[in-house]
Amino acid sequence: EKGGYDHFMIKEIYEEPQVIKDTLSEADKVHEIVKKFKKFDRIYFVACGTSYHASLVGEYLIESQIGIPTEVILASEFEYFQKTLDDHTLVIFLTQSGETADTIKALKIAKQKSETLAIVNVVGSSITREADHVIYTRAGPEISVAATKTYISQLVCIYLLVGYLGENQEILTKLEEVPEYAEELLDSENQIEQIAKKYKDSKDFFYIGRGFNYPTALEGALKLKEITYIHGEGYPAGELKHGPLALIDKNIPVVGILPPGSSYMKTYNNLEEIRARGADMIILGASDDKMIFDIEDKILFDPDIDEILAPLLYIIALQLLAYFISVEKGIDPDKPKNLAKSVTVE
Ligand code: M6R
Repeated sequence: EKGGYDHFMIKEIYEEPQVIKDTLSEADKVHEIVKKFKKFDRIYFVACGTSYHASLVGEYLIESQIGIPTEVILASEFEYFQKTLDDHTLVIFLTQSGETADTIKALKIAKQKSETLAIVNVVGSSITREADHVIYTRAGPEISVAATKTYISQLVCIYLLVGYLGENQEILTKLEEVPEYAEELLDSENQIEQIAKKYKDSKDFFYIGRGFNYPTALEGALKLKEITYIHGEGYPAGELKHGPLALIDKNIPVVGILPPGSSYMKTYNNLEEIRARGADMIILGASDDKMIFDIEDKILFDPDIDEILAPLLYIIALQLLAYFISVEKGIDPDKPKNLAKSVTVE
């Protein structure tokens, strides 16, 4: 059932190019739902864990590409925000399992006043029976407790949503290129395994990203915590100098997400400040980036990947990094301690 792979997690990561294609085939359905939306002037996303991070990518995309005020709220905190719900608000629920208790509870509150959309992987799950509209993410069953391919499929749905909502044909066209880039990246697995071997005994990691890739940093750090039991912290690149820089030294590897694009130079400068403190750097960037040539540990990407689409591809490298560190440490990445695949208590 693991199809020749050692663990479900790595099998599921290798399924990602196909998952992207399968989810893209839902495009017409997403378009139909967007046409049915009532008038709204604000969007809330509500989710937990990895689905929360996918929602954050949605927030950055909608705010920057369409200009609709958008906010992401953790499902377990949603009840404190309910007074602001109204019939001009669209509330989007992201959940792989469709059974997360916090998310279901929030949906029950939201639907009393606002239009609701659920983006779900498991067909017929509880949440699909409550929401006004449902989009399926088409990732197939995910067995590993750590969410990987379902995160990718949630992002694809969000890009489709943003494409249709913002009538942005460019995004929709560019999405078609993503499966090929994902295949290319999976070919660089060995390089990531070497980095994992080198850093497996570190006690803390920082993950730094800006804009669309701030959520990538958060999700990379969550994967690390969940399956390696190493402390990992995701941070917006520009925020480090407001506190955490004080604790950066040579014992803390810093993973810098540095795709080419409008935020490149600022992120680069932030990473230089960290490097000056003696931290080891693991940089994710474009293969033709001359500014990072002297960095020893790099994970390189196709330079043509559009910065808007980088969250879909750069996270794959961080999933692999966490996976290989977990295996190096002798942990079973499929079954992290204390965690369940779906969390059905509040
Ligand atoms: O099924 P859901 O998407 O609602 O699950 C939400 C979280 O419990 C889940 O994403 C969790 O954070 C993952 N195990 C992370 O890998």
